[in-house]
Amino acid sequence: MSGIDSEQLIAAVARPMAQYRAAMKGDLEDWMPLEHAEQMLLDGRAFGEHDFPADFGPIIGMMRLILEKSAAGGWSWADPDVQKVFAEVASGTVYRLYADVLVAMVVEMLKAAPICTVVEAGAGSGFVTGRLCRAMRDNGFDRVRLIATDMLPSIDMLGHELRSAYPDLIIEQCCWNIQNEAPLELRERLRKPVLVFERFSLPYAGYGAIGNLAAIADALILVDDLSLTGEKAAFDHIYGRIGTQFLVLEEARRQLAKYFSRIHTCDTEVVQAIRSPVSTFTLAVK
Ligand SMILES: C[S@@+](CC[C@H](N)C(=O)[O-])C[C@H]1O[C@@H](n2cnc3c(N)ncnc32)[C@H](O)[C@@H]1O
Repeated sequence: MSGIDSEQLIAAVARPMAQYRAAMKGDLEDWMPLEHAEQMLLDGRAFGEHDFPADFGPIIGMMRLILEKSAAGGWSWADPDVQKVFAEVASGTVYRLYADVLVAMVVEMLKAAPICTVVEAGAGSGFVTGRLCRAMRDNGFDRVRLIATDMLPSIDMLGHELRSAYPDLIIEQCCWNIQNEAPLELRERLRKPVLVFERFSLPYAGYGAIGNLAAIADALILVDDLSLTGEKAAFDHIYGRIGTQFLVLEEARRQLAKYFSRIHTCDTEVVQAIRSPVSTFTLAVK
């Protein structure tokens, strides 16, 4: 028994999802223009900065960089050019919105269930982690252990920075390549129930990582673009050049179902409204 109730957790994410739906306005009301831009990039057709809605600009910039770097033969998350452009993407309207929705989901789940440990997989530069720390502090979750992980050793620096910025919280870090089972050093520190979440790391690791995440999670939030159609879109081809795997919602759910009793596609209403070919927020509970 994990001590958490799947219905309560599913109910807890309803409010962040309503906020997400409400935020999909202006440039974000229709995602077809982004697909067109991505197709043009893939086809090598030229276009200007103002030909597509401004809110999609940082994402388009990231795709452009991926095509340039992969053509030149090298892509690494540790590359300063990559980190700079990803920082722009991460602080752009779209990723910020995803981050805020994800943080709100975690906070609502912490309010709804007696979760003792939160683990972030693939935390990277900590864009989500930092926002989560602020929200945990503001909501008084100073007894919940937060463990930030990534396969890159730079996760140690993130841990130090966050501990200095949020001395009242319990913040730890651990190096973990999610293609492997969680290291003993991480497993030893878990206090159940455990909530695991990740944003945009699973596509770099593949479906196989779901079992490794599930092994330590009582509840798991995946924030990844999971295809609803099963057909690759232009951005799947572009991201494929840096080794990301094309992930399909149906298959992800099939993998999750091996470990979790409830799987909830959180954003069904939103993806229909904005004509998106992907679902981004998935919650699984044991
Ligand atoms: C697109 S960035 C996302 C960073 C962060 N989650 C965010 O949303 O700001 C992808 C991150 O996944 C990490 N990553 C890629 N493959 C991984 C793996 N197999 N195990 C753990 N982390 C991985 C990278 O090091 C990088 O920090």
